[in-house]
Amino acid sequence: MRATEEVHVRAPGKVNLTLRAWRPREDGYHPLETVFQAVSLYEDVVARHAEDITLEIRGRGADSLPTDGRNLAVRAAELLRETAGGSAGAHLTLTKQVPVAAGMAGGSADAAATLIACDQLWGTGLGREELAELAAELGADVPFALTGMSAMGTGRGDLISPVMSRGQYHWVLAMQEEGLATPEVFDKLDELHRWEPGRPEPEEDELDTTRRPSGAVVSALLGADPLVLARALYNDLEVAAVSLRPELGDVLAATERAGALAAVVSGSGPTVAALTLDAPHAASVAGVMRSAEVASEVHVVTGPVPGARVLEHVGRR
Ligand code: C5P
Repeated sequence: MRATEEVHVRAPGKVNLTLRAWRPREDGYHPLETVFQAVSLYEDVVARHAEDITLEIRGRGADSLPTDGRNLAVRAAELLRETAGGSAGAHLTLTKQVPVAAGMAGGSADAAATLIACDQLWGTGLGREELAELAAELGADVPFALTGMSAMGTGRGDLISPVMSRGQYHWVLAMQEEGLATPEVFDKLDELHRWEPGRPEPEEDELDTTRRPSGAVVSALLGADPLVLARALYNDLEVAAVSLRPELGDVLAATERAGALAAVVSGSGPTVAALTLDAPHAASVAGVMRSAEVASEVHVVTGPVPGARVLEHVGRR
């Protein structure tokens, strides 16, 4: 018998290549059609045996986050324990690279990594499908953080179907010091659209057939051509994010001046993701973006990358 002492899991942040949102359903969630791409900015969770479920946070934004039951990582461990009917505890050490409230699903990646880490640590043995169900209970973006790579999200964004993708895409991420709260961005979208809440699905007349960017993205990803992908980037939430944070208009304009192929606000923002041709082009765009001083940090990342996965597994003989 070999018990596991420590499990290290890594989960990626994401950008949304497209995002269409329609009037909210009765539960308040907006039906979405989005294409996610997981990018090389990671959240690391190391889980060790402990009496209770406890959390320690290091890295980007660590000081601004709660470490109790308000944290999605703690909630993930609690939900898994409840589901498995055990009484085990875990000490979680979370090291963050994905900024907080950035539109990159960092908190969702923390939850996904924790589900995998605690499942291994406790030997719960849930399959990927059961873990995906728990993930959807925790939040709309958590199932994608388990899957990673490129995928279409429908429903609340939690119904995931993988999308074939060829090639690596090089992104320049322009981040902001202050995050945006996702519910506020969706509320702003409602206000801008003045649509009535409560209808479950988009009506045919609301489906502007000239704007079905997901299909264009899905074929662009097969072609491995960033120039084609650039033309298909689209986000319905961008107008809401820019309305709440007008300086994002300057960030988008700066990406254009810096020579990016195209740029889009990621998810509910405020991170702006600018697509480039290749690694040297990304480095050049990032350099210009840094000197434009419109972002608190500028990072070059690549995608797609895999979803939450175990890196190390220290056993006890
Ligand atoms: O599921 P999650 O907790 O990540 O969602 C945060 C909030 O974002 C929701 O409470 C809701 O206000 C908004 N949201 C939405 N429609 C979605 C996803 C999120 O309105 N499809």
